[in-house]
Amino acid sequence: MTDPLLIEIHNATIWRGTTCVFENFDLAIAQHERVAILGPNGSGKTTLLKTINRELYPEVGENSWVRILGRDDWNVWDLRKRIGIVSHDLHSRYTPATTALEVIVSGFFSSIGVHGLLIERVTDEQREKANNTLHLLGIESLRDTPLRSMSTGQQRRCLLGRAMVHEPDTLILDEPTAGLDFAASFDYLARIRQLAATGCNIVLVTHHLNEIPPEIERVVILKDGAVVADGAKSTVLTSEILSSVYETAVHVTRSDEYFLAYPG
Ligand SMILES: Nc1ncnc2c1ncn2[C@@H]1O[C@H](COP(=O)(O)OP(=O)(O)O)[C@@H](O)[C@H]1O
Ligand SMILES: [Mg+2]
Repeated sequence: MTDPLLIEIHNATIWRGTTCVFENFDLAIAQHERVAILGPNGSGKTTLLKTINRELYPEVGENSWVRILGRDDWNVWDLRKRIGIVSHDLHSRYTPATTALEVIVSGFFSSIGVHGLLIERVTDEQREKANNTLHLLGIESLRDTPLRSMSTGQQRRCLLGRAMVHEPDTLILDEPTAGLDFAASFDYLARIRQLAATGCNIVLVTHHLNEIPPEIERVVILKDGAVVADGAKSTVLTSEILSSVYETAVHVTRSDEYFLAYPG
C-alpha cells in the first residue's frame, strides 16, 4: 500500500473572517517530502498551515476536500500527535510566567499553559519525556525558569520542545526564527536539520532564503492565495521569479546548498 499524502488540498475555499484567502485552491505534499513555503506578507502562508493543522476548516463543498494523511475526519487530538507546530502566533499566546517545563508539557494536552488540574494529570512517563526533551534541546537548566527570564531563542526552543513531545512525524514551522538573532537562528536551524535527518517531515514557512536547509528540496511560493511557483529549490529560487513575486528587484545567489537574496 502506498503512503497517503501528507496533505491533499483539492478545490478548497478557505476564509479568515470575512476575507476569502483561498478559492479553488489545490496543493499536494507527500510524506517525507520536505517543503519550504514562501510568499509576501498576507499571501496565505499561515492560513495554509492552520488549515493543515485543523485550526481552520475549508468551506464545505462538492468536489472539494482537505485531506491530512489520507483523512478528512481527524480528531484534532489524534492529529496533534502526528503533527507538531511551532509558530510565532503560538509563542505569543504563552504568558511570561510559564516555565520551560510547563511549555513542553503543554504539548501533551494540546493546550497553551498547564495550570492547576492539568499539571496534576501529567504522568511520570510524560514528565520523563519532557525532561528528555529539555535535555535534547540543551535547556535543562531552564526547566523551572519562566519565559520572561529567557532570551527569545531559549523561549523558541521551549516551543520546539512542545512540538516534539509526541515525536511527531511532521513538524510545521511558521517563521520559527522570527525575532531571533542569527546565532540563535542558526542554532535553531541545526536542530531542525537534525530532526529532518531522523526522517521527520518538515513544512517550513520563512522569509529568509538562507534559512532553508539543504534537506528541504521543494519550494512553494504563494501570492494572493494562489501557488505562483512550485518545484525544486534551484528552479524556484531564481532572481526572475522572486523579483516578479515580490514586485521588487531581487538578486539570488547560491553557495553550495544555500541560497541568499540581495536587493537587485
Ligand atoms: N484573523 C483574521 N481575520 C481576518 N482576516 C485575516 C485573519 N488573519 C489573516 N487574515 C487575512 O488573510 C490573508 C492571509 O493571511 P495570512 O495567512 O496570515 O498570510 P501570511 O502568513 O502569508 O502573511 C491576509 O489578507 C490577512 O489579512
Ligand atoms: Mg504568516
